[in-house]
Amino acid sequence: MENVLALEQLSPDAAVRKTASMQDSLADRSRLHDVIVYGEQEPAGNAESQDNPDHVLLETPHGEIRFTSPIINAAGPRHEGISNFDDLGQSESGAIVLKTATLVGTSGNPEPRYSPPGEFHEGALNAMGLPNLGYEVYAEEVPRLKETYRKPVFASISGKKPGDNATMIRRFTEKGVDAIEINGSCQNIHRNGPMLANDPVALARELHECREATDKPLGVKLPAYADAHYFEAIAAVLLEGEVDFITAINTVGPSLKVDYQVARTAMAAMSGYGGLSGEPIRPIAIANVHKLYELIGETIPIIGVGGISQGWHALEHFEAGASVAALATAFMEEGARVFERIWRELLTEIDGRSVEEIRGSLAVHPEEAVPAS
Ligand SMILES: Cc1cc2nc3c(=O)[nH]c(=O)nc-3n(C[C@H](O)[C@H](O)[C@H](O)COP(=O)(O)O)c2cc1C
Repeated sequence: MENVLALEQLSPDAAVRKTASMQDSLADRSRLHDVIVYGEQEPAGNAESQDNPDHVLLETPHGEIRFTSPIINAAGPRHEGISNFDDLGQSESGAIVLKTATLVGTSGNPEPRYSPPGEFHEGALNAMGLPNLGYEVYAEEVPRLKETYRKPVFASISGKKPGDNATMIRRFTEKGVDAIEINGSCQNIHRNGPMLANDPVALARELHECREATDKPLGVKLPAYADAHYFEAIAAVLLEGEVDFITAINTVGPSLKVDYQVARTAMAAMSGYGGLSGEPIRPIAIANVHKLYELIGETIPIIGVGGISQGWHALEHFEAGASVAALATAFMEEGARVFERIWRELLTEIDGRSVEEIRGSLAVHPEEAVPAS
């Protein structure tokens, strides 16, 4: 508790200096983590986070994932090279989530393919098209990243044809990755049919094949579902027992940003269409997290993503049912220091409560109890 009290009593500048000095010490990080996850419970000691048996946020049938903070990066942004993963390792992100990999590396879509949030907070738009170095390059980095930074390393994969995902999963498993997220919801690649997570039959088949390829925690990243029917159809597939966690949501699309003065799309890739991210999608993300929490939350933990750029945004995700909160656009815009800022803001918001206490605590506004006349 001592660290969180000290932080709250400091002026903002002093708090920044204090928390910056904390980054130097894994032991301090470990104590802060205790406060977030276990509230009033006594810190478990100075053991490094990955070795501390109390530092478990996600317990799955295929093992525990021990995060060093409940604020992590979402797959994707700042993908250009391996050094970006080192930035994540050195930051306060509770995990290192690798760029979504395909079997063969690709440079993605042509530029411009990212439009930043802008002064009116209209959100970021991207049609990156999964530029990545190919899964083998990322898999080779897993042991070094784990050893150096002692936090969980997640692979993110997106196979283009049958069998790709299983091939990638086997290699990441051999290299000791902590968890694997199947990106079933990328907006920005050309395909003939619906995205994987919009096709319950294809999703069930794919998850079954992927499950057979690994004994590591396996998750799937979902899109924003706009039709209530989909939540139930997808929940039924997820409850078949193949996945250990889900990540919700990916970017929202197809979306289109325009430069109205010249009547032109803001991006060139994908005819200007792309996936919307950042603050405007937070209510959509919260709805998806909460809906999924109601349907599967008892069985499958949720990584909440979408519109988080402040500590209280992460709190909303926890209240809706997320166990961990992940961010992409805020990381893209602010760099790796964003994780420490949001964590510090979250500490103030939760005021000594644990994430576990907060998770799923969202109640319906009491006025709903009064029927409208
Ligand atoms: C530039 C950019 C690249 C992204 N690339 C990926 C990706 O490779 N894989 C993936 O699963 N999601 C990707 N995403 C989606 C994010 O992980 C996240 O789900 C989405 O942006 C919503 O979160 P946010 O509002 O915090 O940005 C990307 C998002 C952005 C902005």
